Amino acid sequence: MAAGDIELQPLRVERQDEVGDLVQGFNFLLSRLEEVTNQKLAAERLRLAEKERMEIALRHLLADTSHELRTPITVLRAQIEALQDGIFLPDTRRLNILHDEVMGMARLVETLFTLARSDIGQLECRSDPIDIFAVLDHVVSAFRNRYAEAGMTIAWTEGADRGPVVIGDVAGLRQVFANLLENTLRYTDPGGRLVVSCRTGARDTGDHAVTLTFDDTAPGVPAEALPRLFERFFRVETSRSRAGGGSGIGLALCQSLVAAHGGAISAEASPLGGLRVTVRLPCIEAS
Ligand SMILES: Nc1ncnc2c1ncn2[C@@H]1O[C@H](COP(=O)(O)OP(=O)(O)OP(=O)(O)O)[C@@H](O)[C@H]1O
Ligand SMILES: [Mg+2]
Repeated sequence: MAAGDIELQPLRVERQDEVGDLVQGFNFLLSRLEEVTNQKLAAERLRLAEKERMEIALRHLLADTSHELRTPITVLRAQIEALQDGIFLPDTRRLNILHDEVMGMARLVETLFTLARSDIGQLECRSDPIDIFAVLDHVVSAFRNRYAEAGMTIAWTEGADRGPVVIGDVAGLRQVFANLLENTLRYTDPGGRLVVSCRTGARDTGDHAVTLTFDDTAPGVPAEALPRLFERFFRVETSRSRAGGGSGIGLALCQSLVAAHGGAISAEASPLGGLRVTVRLPCIEAS
C-alpha cells in the first residue's frame, strides 16, 4: 500500500447500524496499517541514510589515513635513498631523524587502531579504581619541564589530598590528559599558561561525577571550528598544526577513551583567551 503496490481507500460510512460500525472498524484498521507502514518506511529510510553516512565517513577516513601516512613515508624514502647514494652519512643524527619518523608513523597507526576498535565496540579498558588526582599529578609532572622550556606554566596543585575515584583504565586516562597538555603546549603562544581545575558533583544531588577543566591562554579556536575539534583529522589551521606535527586525531582519541569510561568531553572558548576542554567522568567517591 504505502509502497505503491496496493491502494486502499477508507470507505464512506453513511449507515448507523452494525454494517456502519463494521465499516468504521475497517477504516480504523486501515489508518493504523497506514501509520505502521509509514513508520517502517521512515525507519528504513533513516537506516539507509545512516549506512550511506557511515560509508562516506569510512571513505574519508581511508583517504585521510593514506594522506597522513604518505608524508612520513616520503620523508623516510628520501632519507634512506640519500644514505644509499652516499649523500648523507648514517651518523647518529641522521638515524635519529629516521627513528623519529618511524615513531611518528607508529603512533599514528596505534591511534587509528585504537579508534577502529572503539568504533566496533572493542576498545578494551581496564576497570581499576583510580585516584584521578594521582593520574593528573603523573601527567603534569611529565610535562613540567617542556612547559618551562616554552616559558609556560601549569596551574595544578600536585600532591593534593586523595582525589575522586574513577573506575577505569589508568593508561587510557593518562593518554587523555597527556593529549590535552600536549595540545596546550603546541597551540598556545609562548609565555602562556594552562589552568587545570577539578569539581565534583554535590553529594546531596547524588551526582557522582568529576568534572575536570583545562583552560589555556591565547590563541583560541574560532567559534565555527569548536564543534569539529573532535572529528578525526580535523585541524583548525592546517599549516600551523602541521608544523607542530599534529595529525588531528588526538582529540578524537580523547573522545573515544572518555566515552569508554562512560564520560563526556567538550570544547568551548576559555575565559583565559584560549581553549577550554571539559572532561566529565563518573566517579564512585567524591572527596
Ligand atoms: N589548546 C588548544 N588551543 C588552540 N587550538 C587547539 C588546542 N587544542 C587543539 N587545538 C586545535 O584543534 C586541532 C585538533 O587537535 P587534535 O589534538 O585532535 O589534533 P592535533 O594536535 O593536530 O594532532 P595529534 O593530536 O593527532 O598529534 C589542532 O590541530 C588545533 O588546531
Ligand atoms: Mg593533539
